[in-house]
Order: sequence, then C-alpha cells, then structure tokens
Amino acid sequence: MDIPHDLTVLLRGAEHIAALTGAGISAESGLRTFRDTQTGLWAQYRPEDLATPKAFARNPKLVWDWYAWRREAVSEARPNAGHYALTEIGRRVPRFTLITQNVDGLHQRAGNRDLIELHGNITRVRCSASCGAVTSWEERPDEAPRCVRCGAFLRPDVVWFGEALPRAALDAALEAARTCRVFLSIGTSGMVQLAASLAYAAKNRGAALVEINLEPTPLTPKVDFFLQGKSGDVSPALVRATWGAGRDG
Ligand code: OAD
Repeated sequence: MDIPHDLTVLLRGAEHIAALTGAGISAESGLRTFRDTQTGLWAQYRPEDLATPKAFARNPKLVWDWYAWRREAVSEARPNAGHYALTEIGRRVPRFTLITQNVDGLHQRAGNRDLIELHGNITRVRCSASCGAVTSWEERPDEAPRCVRCGAFLRPDVVWFGEALPRAALDAALEAARTCRVFLSIGTSGMVQLAASLAYAAKNRGAALVEINLEPTPLTPKVDFFLQGKSGDVSPALVRATWGAGRDG
C-alpha cells in the first residue's frame, strides 16, 4: 500500500491526532460488521427486535441471548494489526484521542488505555432500572439475569437505538474532533449519528480528514486522503511510512 508522502509529513507534524473507529476495524478479528450486505448483523437481524429499549421491555430474554451470543464471539476474538497500529500511533504523537463506536473492547486489549467508547461495552452489564448497580449476575437458562440489588433485569451496558449517547464520552469526543489537526475515520460506514458528525466537526475546525475503508462511504468525497483497503493492512502501513517500523515490524 502506497501512503502519500504529504500525509506522512502531516501526521509527523501533528500535535493532536484523533481517530474514530467502527466495526470494520474488528472485521479482521472475526467479528461481524453491521451493514455489510451479506455478512452484516443488520442483514440478518432487525435492530428493532434486538437493540432498542422497547425490544428489551417486550422480550428481555431474547435480547439477552442475542448479546450473550455476541459477547461469546467477542471473548474468542483477538485484536488485529489494525488495533495495534492505533496503539502505536498513541505512542508516537504528543496527543492521540481514540474514539470508538465498537463495543468489543479490542482496543483496550491492544493496549489503548484512554479510549472513548461512544456506544458502551458489551462485556459490561448494568441494571436496567435506576438503582445504578453493576454487580454480578447469574446466567439462567430460562430467564434474563436480574440485578442482585433491586431485582430489575440486567442489561448490556451498550447504547441502543433511540437512546442518548453517554454525555461524558460525547463531550470528550467532540472536544477532540474540534481540536485535532488530523482526524482518521477507520472502518465505519458513517451511517450512525452522532459519531458520523465528528468528522464534519473536525473538518469545520480545519482538521485534515483521512479515511481508511474497504469501500467509499458518504464521507469519502469530503476527505483529504482516502486509503482504500483493509484496516489491518493499511493502518500498519501508515504507521511504518510515517514513523518507521512499529510493533508489527
Ligand atoms: P458498519 O457495519 O455500518 O460499517 C462497517 C464499515 O467497515 C463499512 O464501511 C465497511 O466497508 C468497512 N469495513 C469492513 N471491513 C473492513 C476492513 N477489514 N477494513 C476497513 N474497513 C472495513 O459499522 P459501523 O460504522 O461501526 O451501533 O456502525 C456504526 C453503528 O451502527 C454501530 O456502532 C452499531 C450499529 O448499529 C449501535 O449498535 C448503537
């Protein structure tokens, strides 16, 4: 993969780089994306049946089982070269802000400590009522697990359709988008707000936009550099071209 020289110069000189990742970065770890036409989760399942507060109220067990199945896939997955390349960028620039829409925790497992999770994390659970408890739960074959403190159903600590994003995460992501010199959009279709608007917020404040994706997206016409390919190939190539050999050699 040829990385444009202008881009390497820009990255080397940047005081602050921000990156937004989506399901595409974890595809090479074996996790399914949402909107890929054949293999995406939303090609097979309807979000309104599984990923909304109404769906959970209607059938908590169905929703729980679906997330338990996804949690299992996440626990078997390993970070890939794309995740490690971003960890490497974090070591090379004075300030690096990593923002993800993914709930799989693979960035943390690749060594990223200060991650902004816009859509929560599938490995955590919380009480669906307002008691706020996040304790332990028991898997039961015939029922969704319940909060040990108040007895309400537990739910995955993720953002569902129709729910607000976590305020602190959103504020931190917006601040990063508005102050970064370069904004990288990696493996996301850009179909879901508010995450998709971050790239535009960055551009409006003068940041250069760089996109890494297998395919063009609605953002592509706006970006300064479109690097087409797998993030597990392109991101390490970007790190090597910019800063020399990284962790993957
Ligand atoms: P999508 O499934 O919408 O988009 C995945 C993107 O990754 C597509 O643009 C693919 O072309 C690209 N892609 C696939 N494999 C890739 C690879 N190996 N390297 C680079 N790019 C690749 O996933 P997201 O944009 O993450 O929200 O979806 C955003 C949100 O929609 C998710 O967080 C989820 C979903 O509904 C909630 O559940 C709230």
